[in-house]
Amino acid sequence: MINIAIDGPSGAGKSTISKIIAKKLGITYLDTGAMYRAVALYTINNQKNPSVADDVIPLLKDIKISYKKVGEDNIIYLNDKDVSEDIRRHDISKCASEVSKIPEVRTFLVNMQRDIAKNSDVVLDGRDICSHVLPDTKYKFYLTAKAEERAKRRCSELLQKGQNVEYNQVLADILDRDYNDMNRAVSPLVKTADSIEIDSTEMTLEEVANTIISHIEKIKNSEENQKNTSQKLKKQAKELTLDANKVIKCNTRKTGGFYRLLAGFVRKVMAILWPTKIYFKDNFPKNTKAVVICNHYTALDPCVIISKLLGKDGKVLMKEEVMKNPVVAKVATELGCIPVKRGEADLNAIKKILGALAKNQPVLIFPEGTRNRSGSKEMLPLKQGVSTFAIRAKAPIVPMLYYKKTGPFRRNVLVIGTPFYLDEFYDQKPNLVKEEATLLIEQKMSELRTEVDILVEKCKGSKKKYLKYKREQSKEFALNECSRS
Ligand code: DC
Repeated sequence: MINIAIDGPSGAGKSTISKIIAKKLGITYLDTGAMYRAVALYTINNQKNPSVADDVIPLLKDIKISYKKVGEDNIIYLNDKDVSEDIRRHDISKCASEVSKIPEVRTFLVNMQRDIAKNSDVVLDGRDICSHVLPDTKYKFYLTAKAEERAKRRCSELLQKGQNVEYNQVLADILDRDYNDMNRAVSPLVKTADSIEIDSTEMTLEEVANTIISHIEKIKNSEENQKNTSQKLKKQAKELTLDANKVIKCNTRKTGGFYRLLAGFVRKVMAILWPTKIYFKDNFPKNTKAVVICNHYTALDPCVIISKLLGKDGKVLMKEEVMKNPVVAKVATELGCIPVKRGEADLNAIKKILGALAKNQPVLIFPEGTRNRSGSKEMLPLKQGVSTFAIRAKAPIVPMLYYKKTGPFRRNVLVIGTPFYLDEFYDQKPNLVKEEATLLIEQKMSELRTEVDILVEKCKGSKKKYLKYKREQSKEFALNECSRS
């Protein structure tokens, strides 16, 4: 329903303007002032005093007001009698203002007005439409004009109808009615904060009507836009919920049983195909989020890490192509693989990774982005996405290095370094610091490489010897410090 509310003082042109607007928009016009006038006329016709509530109130039950549109005009009927002319009499104007002060009269007419507005598109004009009759409508206008201009307009209107009136008297009556309407105890004429004020003193009727209509269009459009935006947002929220559900589905394997069976099987196969000794297992965080990074030689590396370290809730980022075969896809999903499209920002995968981290699950990422087929110790340049995940999820990075032995069935070495945080970047946009943060990750990996080299080459892969070496190193360092100071 479209309900347009126009309030304002007497003679501001409300009824003429409302008629034009109603016609242009093809909707009904309801002149609420005419209703108060009809009550006033009935009171006078029954020789009662319109200023005395006890005189007027008993009459209300006998009053029936109705409208009929004939051509351009609204005919108003009082108990089925056309009173359109009578209610416009100058003496009735004053009486209408008097009866409008009586709360019972207002309730009687306001109920009628609200009923009409509820059931039809309508322009209502009056004094309390914006503030009281239709406080919830979005189309509210306050039409005003200087008192002198309003008196001039009223004079010529009454003269046209053959009523001989004096300008000064009309002006005095208008000021008097303004005072009454604005100062009565019940629903006085006010400009509500959400009404659009239009001063018609210097404007033609057409200009005023067009101004109001253009405001109505603007309000309608912004409403339409708001509706569209909220629909779009609702749709997006629904999609995100669906995605989130997918993430949850993907992150929550149905049973740990199948995983354990699979992981046990993979462990056994790996023990033969890609035997690996893991050093410093204590560095691997338990039951908490972590971005686990490792260099990558063969498709067997992830199998070892998944089956020996990641556990039931761990995730591993894997190129999408792996998932092409449905059986492999099923097994990979069960083992926690998140498929990722390479060479583009795969939003779905990003959401899943952040979703897993948010649920305190470790995520294994090979930061080189691909396998190092050359087999060299040097890592390929690292992709910058790792830093973004670690910063956004405020998750520790667990550096790991594979030391690949040459020849088949030789024991490889996997060293887990000390986890570190990128907390110095937490208060910055990950996108802006990814280069700097990636340099830091590279530095940590290279420190770990040195340790691995020492462990494997100097200490012949013995953790005991390596720890002894570290102790001696720190003693030597302390002595150097002492002698320097
Ligand atoms: O708009 P009008 O001059 O025809 O109105 C006649 C009187 O009715 C006016 O003095 C104030 C009163 N009125 C009112 O109190 N509330 C309305 N909604 C409309 C009119």
